[in-house]
Amino acid sequence: MTVVAAGVRGRTPYDVGRMRVPERSLHLLRDLVHVHTGLFYGEERLMFLQDRLCGRALECGFDSLLDYYYLLKYDDAAEQEWMHAIDALAVQETYFWRESDQLRALTDGILPLLAARRAGPIRIWSLPCASGEEPLSIAMALTEAGWFSRAAIELHASDASEAALRRARAGRYGPRAFRQLPEALRDRYFEPVEGSKDWTVRPELHARVRSWTRVNAVRSAERAPHAGSDVIFCRNLFIYFDHPTVARVVDGFADTMPSPAFLCVAAAESLMRLTTRFELQDIAGAYIYVKP
Ligand SMILES: C[S@@+](CC[C@H](N)C(=O)[O-])C[C@H]1O[C@@H](n2cnc3c(N)ncnc32)[C@H](O)[C@@H]1O
Repeated sequence: MTVVAAGVRGRTPYDVGRMRVPERSLHLLRDLVHVHTGLFYGEERLMFLQDRLCGRALECGFDSLLDYYYLLKYDDAAEQEWMHAIDALAVQETYFWRESDQLRALTDGILPLLAARRAGPIRIWSLPCASGEEPLSIAMALTEAGWFSRAAIELHASDASEAALRRARAGRYGPRAFRQLPEALRDRYFEPVEGSKDWTVRPELHARVRSWTRVNAVRSAERAPHAGSDVIFCRNLFIYFDHPTVARVVDGFADTMPSPAFLCVAAAESLMRLTTRFELQDIAGAYIYVKP
C-alpha cells in the first residue's frame, strides 16, 4: 500500500508534496542506513529520517521513497549517492572548545605520559570532526600548551560527510561556533571576515591538522589509515548509533590502537556495559577511556 505524504504512526505527516512513501519503504531505508552508516533511527526519530531523505529523493527527481531505496541499494551510482544521503542525514552540531575538560586532560595528562614513553610521533585523530571545530580546538589547546614544539604530534581529522569536510577545509565560521571559545583564543587564532560576522581560521592553525579525510566510522577498511592512533576523539557520534554498533566500532578501535591508548567520547556517551577493552579513568579532571 502506498500513502501520499505519509505520517509515521499517525503523527503529523511530513509535507512531501507528491512524494509517495510506501508503508514499508521507510523501514527498509531505515535498516539500509543503519547497516551502511551505523546511524540508528528508532520509531521516535523516523520522521527525521523521512524528512531528510524525502528532500534528497525529490532532488534526485523521484516521487517515491522506494525508488530512492533502490538507488541506494542496487544502483551503480549507489556509492556516490551515499555521500549525499550522509550529508542529508548528518547532524553537524558542533562548536569550538566543546567539553574542554578533555582538551586539558590531553595537554596535562595524556601527552606527558605518551611523550615519556614514545619515541615516534604521537598520533591524534578526531573522528567525526564535522566542520572542523573539534580538531581545531585540539590544535589550539596543543599550541597554547606548547606541545607542537615539545613533541612530534600528528593531528588528523575525518568525517563521513563530504559537505562537513568542505566546510572544515574552508575554515570559515559563524558566531555560533565561537559560543564557548574564550575571546582571547578567537582573536589569536582567527581573523574577522570583512563585512560579515564570520571569522576564518589562521592558516598556521589550520595547517596543524595534517589531513581532512572522508571516513565512515563503521567501516574498518576506511578507519585503517588512522586506526593506530594513540588518542581518538570520537565524540557525539555514538549517540546516533545503537549499542551493538557502538560496541563493534569500539572493539575495532581496541584492536588497532597501541597500548596505552586513549579514547575520548562525549559525556553523554557511556561505554559502560559495551566494552571491557577500555577502562574509564579520571585524567586531569576529565573522564577518558584508556586501553591499558
Ligand atoms: C554532532 S557531530 C560531532 C562533531 C564533533 N565530534 C563534536 O563532538 O562536536 C556528528 C558528526 O558525525 C558524522 N557522522 C555521522 N555518521 C558517521 C559515520 N558513520 N562515520 C563518520 N562520521 C559520521 C556527521 O557527519 C557529523 O559531522
